[in-house]
Amino acid sequence: MSGPHPSSERREVLYVIVCGSPLAGHVGRLVELAQQDGWDVCVVTTPDGAKFVDRTALARQTGHPVRSRYKNPGDPDVLPPADAMIVCPATVNTVNKWAVGITDTLALGLLIEAQGQGVPIVAVPFTNAAMAAHPAFQASLARLREWGVSVLFGDHVHPLHPPGSGERHLHAFPWGIGLAALRGQLHQVTSAA
Ligand SMILES: Cc1cc2nc3c(=O)[nH]c(=O)nc-3n(C[C@H](O)[C@H](O)[C@H](O)COP(=O)(O)O)c2cc1C
Repeated sequence: MSGPHPSSERREVLYVIVCGSPLAGHVGRLVELAQQDGWDVCVVTTPDGAKFVDRTALARQTGHPVRSRYKNPGDPDVLPPADAMIVCPATVNTVNKWAVGITDTLALGLLIEAQGQGVPIVAVPFTNAAMAAHPAFQASLARLREWGVSVLFGDHVHPLHPPGSGERHLHAFPWGIGLAALRGQLHQVTSAA
């Protein structure tokens, strides 16, 4: 399929950053689609995201360990550096912390550093309509967009659901949408070069 750089020998590396939502339990679908696009995929979860995923299955699927916490000083890096990142599902909590530069999880540290390096980033929040209405969350989404992050959120992406009904809306989630946005970002970069 249309990989990021299909002719290069080293496959480009995509970090899939996974936060604490039931949608996280299905992230293997995103991994599968990204691999079909030619990415070498690494999964990083927040500590709360780790509660929702099958890390053994994801490690088998990707060929990389699933990381969730900062390494200890002096420990080697176990993942290759990222060429792009997709945060999916992105929680209200992580989006708000990201927008003010808090790095108290490995996921946030990687995102904030990547943003400073100009790494393409796509964020796909998943939350209920009540949490989504909070002004801080709306402001955070706007800030991330201003800074060049592709933020895919709203009824046009996936209809917002009432509190307590998230589990019933997982099956219809458009897992390919973040990858399509990333392809668009990468295309812009190569066209401009
Ligand atoms: C069962 C359950 C489901 C949750 N679903 C969501 C969700 O879909 N979206 C969201 O923003 N937060 C959701 N939360 C709340 C987050 O897990 C919580 O804010 C957590 O601190 C997020 O941490 P993280 O951003 O580091 O992953 C859920 C919590 C629980 C216990």
